[in-house]
Amino acid sequence: MKQIVFATNNAHKLDEIRQIVGDSIQVLSLADIDCNDDIPEDADTLDGNALIKAQYIHDKYGMDCFSDDTGLEIDALGGEPGVYSARYGGVAHDSERNMDKVLAKLEGVPMEQRTARFRTVIALIEGDTVTTFEGKVEGHILTERHGTEGFGYDPIFQPNEAGGPTFAEMTAQQKNAISHRGRATAKLVAHLLGAR
Ligand code: IMP
Repeated sequence: MKQIVFATNNAHKLDEIRQIVGDSIQVLSLADIDCNDDIPEDADTLDGNALIKAQYIHDKYGMDCFSDDTGLEIDALGGEPGVYSARYGGVAHDSERNMDKVLAKLEGVPMEQRTARFRTVIALIEGDTVTTFEGKVEGHILTERHGTEGFGYDPIFQPNEAGGPTFAEMTAQQKNAISHRGRATAKLVAHLLGAR
């Protein structure tokens, strides 16, 4: 069976992709290959970070590998928080602080100028070949939080195509069907399954 490393230990992301690829490909986590390294993630673009992580595993373990990086790009903030989305509020993975900072910076900005998108880039290294896949979802940043599902910036992000709810007011299934990560992952899986 083809084996491929997903350079993450995020159980949710691993479950999601394992469910999609089924038995056809064995997707290994960093824990599965005994990698406890603090993998660098210091590029200033999503593409750069995704590639650094995949390249690190490929170079060290000689295995085919993919890695993802996601950012929220807010037009009125010149594309911020972008590649700094996880630690925008100053503390890594503190979603409340991250949302507080976004809402404070957008105070007084009218709804039509609160446009934003989530963008995911997946970098795949197979042998000597690098391929990237992108997924995007366009939306608006609301003035306050709505909903309790999901994670990260979900309570303040209203995807245009869903007609009203924020990501945090949708089921995981509804969100995955239109989300940045769902779309990038679908492209990756089509490539992997097609190339078997
Ligand atoms: P990562 O590259 O998947 O680790 O995402 C970086 C950061 O972007 C996360 O820490 C979250 O703050 C934010 N983020 C990524 N995906 C989502 C999402 O689906 N909803 C809300 N926030 C997200």
